[in-house]
Amino acid sequence: MVRTKNSFDTDWLFHKGDIPIRYAVKAGMTGGITDCEKLEEGDWLDIAFVDKSVDADSVPKDWVSVHLPHDWCIEGDYINDPNLGSRPASSGYLPTGIGVYVKVFDIAKADLGKKISLEFDGVMRNSTVWVNGHLMGTHTSGYTSFMYDLSDVLRYGDEGKNVVCVKVDATESEGWWYEGCGIYRHVWLTKTERLHVAHWGTYVTTPVVTESYSDVRIRTTVENAYSISAAALVTSTVIDKQTGEAVGSFSSGGLIDSVSNRTFEHTVLVVDPKLWSPDTPHLYQVLTEIRDRDGKVVDVYETTFGIRTIEFTTDRGFFLNGKPLIIKGTCNHQDFAGVGVALPDRIIAYKIELLKEMGSNTYRSAHHPATPELLDACDRLGMMVIEENRKLDSSPEGIDNLKRMLYRGRNHPSIIMWSMENEEILEGTVMGARILQTLSDVTHAIDPTRPTTAALNHGWNGGGYAEAVDIVGYNYGQREDQDVNDHVTYPNRIMIGSESASCTTTRGIYETDEIRGYVPAYGTVYPSWGCTPEKAWSDVVQNPFLTGIVVWTGFDYRGEPTPYEWPCINSHFGIMDTCGFPKDSYYYYKSVWTNEPVLHIMPHWNWEGREGELINVRIYSNCDAVELRLNDVSLGRQTMIPNSHLAWDVPYESGELTAIGYKDDVAILEKRVATADAPNQIKLMPDRTTIQRDGKDVVVIRVAVADAGGRIVPTADNEILFKIEGSGTIIGVGNGNPSSHESDKSNRRKAFNGYCLVLVQSNGAAGTINLRASSAGLATETITIETV
Ligand code: GAL
Repeated sequence: MVRTKNSFDTDWLFHKGDIPIRYAVKAGMTGGITDCEKLEEGDWLDIAFVDKSVDADSVPKDWVSVHLPHDWCIEGDYINDPNLGSRPASSGYLPTGIGVYVKVFDIAKADLGKKISLEFDGVMRNSTVWVNGHLMGTHTSGYTSFMYDLSDVLRYGDEGKNVVCVKVDATESEGWWYEGCGIYRHVWLTKTERLHVAHWGTYVTTPVVTESYSDVRIRTTVENAYSISAAALVTSTVIDKQTGEAVGSFSSGGLIDSVSNRTFEHTVLVVDPKLWSPDTPHLYQVLTEIRDRDGKVVDVYETTFGIRTIEFTTDRGFFLNGKPLIIKGTCNHQDFAGVGVALPDRIIAYKIELLKEMGSNTYRSAHHPATPELLDACDRLGMMVIEENRKLDSSPEGIDNLKRMLYRGRNHPSIIMWSMENEEILEGTVMGARILQTLSDVTHAIDPTRPTTAALNHGWNGGGYAEAVDIVGYNYGQREDQDVNDHVTYPNRIMIGSESASCTTTRGIYETDEIRGYVPAYGTVYPSWGCTPEKAWSDVVQNPFLTGIVVWTGFDYRGEPTPYEWPCINSHFGIMDTCGFPKDSYYYYKSVWTNEPVLHIMPHWNWEGREGELINVRIYSNCDAVELRLNDVSLGRQTMIPNSHLAWDVPYESGELTAIGYKDDVAILEKRVATADAPNQIKLMPDRTTIQRDGKDVVVIRVAVADAGGRIVPTADNEILFKIEGSGTIIGVGNGNPSSHESDKSNRRKAFNGYCLVLVQSNGAAGTINLRASSAGLATETITIETV
């Protein structure tokens, strides 16, 4: 057998709240409990540690069965307590606390002698892991991966059952946004022979890239965990992932001392390389095979990579594969409606797809390293990534977390720069500069192929701070033209608009509502440090040296309900809401970020009782000119102002607003917004009608309330009840309402301005999934999802 890496996500038992875990029975001992050292009866955990024949069925009642990824915070009730989290409202008014996970598992006798490890992609946060009563370790950061070698402390075959226990203490926070609680990313059980590729043991770079060939350099660290030296033959085969064909290969070998590592370096020539870019996310793979002295293959390891070049300039912006490319980015935290931070892989990919459809090409993982599956999705779908370290911290733990981010991420072609920190208070100081320099140096040593950056806000020019990174990030640099002025003063500085806009809007809301905490969607409200989307983008268009902008944020997220607090529980910064429903500003970005013709009218046209009042109508478009008509009467044609919007003040009368977009004087596009009648029916709009039958895949179903004519009712707030049958489960609901205190873990949800969302996951069984949506007074709708 060669390497296996199996999901360890299913069938955990979870207990919310603290449990005294007596892992070290005798003072002075590291841990580990033998079967004769029985502790107090009745404490299931202790019994689990000592009793070889523990039966998962004998679990006390308050343990619930969960599958990972899991976020217990999102299951809680909203509490008006401003002290929850690091800043008022930062955890979205959801309590955090302590939780304990346990999983009982078998390891076959045949696995004795192998190296067996458990890898956690991310646990929020401060987790301690015991296996069969042995303390494996504590990992504080909720954003970096960690693994433990379990080989010595496992029970093999009839030695007994194995129990892993994970205590998670999420009482303290690491950020000022919703971070969730629990084992919210995947867990993997990996088994290898004792001679194997080390953890994160390959590093693939492309030092030479031309149109006709590329040198692919592969450094492979092989670990010999035997107590005698071992001979290894390492073969690296480069495979085109699209065709599956091997395009080149290289082998070398040598002796590796006992309990040691050795790094082998190979170069493989790839002819006519297919370059990775957001438009053509072409991927290659290195297949590493390790043979022992008998020629037997003892390990096979896969590394995905891409061939591409990146260049950042002081004056002309960014070049990908030698061609200029403006960074059209969004900053994002992790969470999503219905699931908190425990995103199934499909939801991660769904979010990236939505951002891509808008024309965004860059994702800033703010302010922490991303989930590995997000990096995979960005590689695959074509989204560049600014991968960010959580803190400005050069303590041993800080460096350790930075290294985990770098080793884990450095083969991903999507990552184009490493951000060392965001808005730390030591920015602009000499002490801060020393710390930042250390982080930058560590990063350059581990990955010299990408520049370092930092997202600065507290002083760009003091203490030599900005000089400690390759690219200086300007968060909200448009304030007093700081970015433009600095470009003149520091002409050798490479700059990026690392964070911008922070414009607050609520989907489908066009008037301030301080009681319910809603911000009008016109895009005119932003904090003192922010600006309108139009200003943020125009800045870059006028100042190419800015490299691009990374808008705060792509999606609303829980916490930071600026400009309000309770009853608001989530932010308003998103271009899309927490469900991924576009707000009006989405169409602004799409109009300036894509070449697709865009024509968008706002607001809706349901203003009953306001007949004759002037309503401000706005158009986002990339046409040359737009004509607006109300009930077939022209309100005039206006020439589009590039990177801006058009506006009309229209006396309200019910009916239909029509916008006609012209290119070169030819009408190319028409959009209508009509007054909807009363709610009459439900519409279900799944993102796909066939999903994988793997217990993981998710169908994202947009739910709308429509009138009898099928027009979405933009003010509808009907509560929709979902009933599911067949091979799927409802894993969450949402509606994007920043002040809704309904639970996301439910089978019902009110619409918010016409829409809500339901997430349905395959339960692993064969067959179809039927979802029925009903609501008092509305025609019921049912859809069928196939599983394959
Ligand atoms: C930035 C900060 C973000 C978020 C944002 C809100 O300064 O980096 O985390 O707080 O402000 O506008």
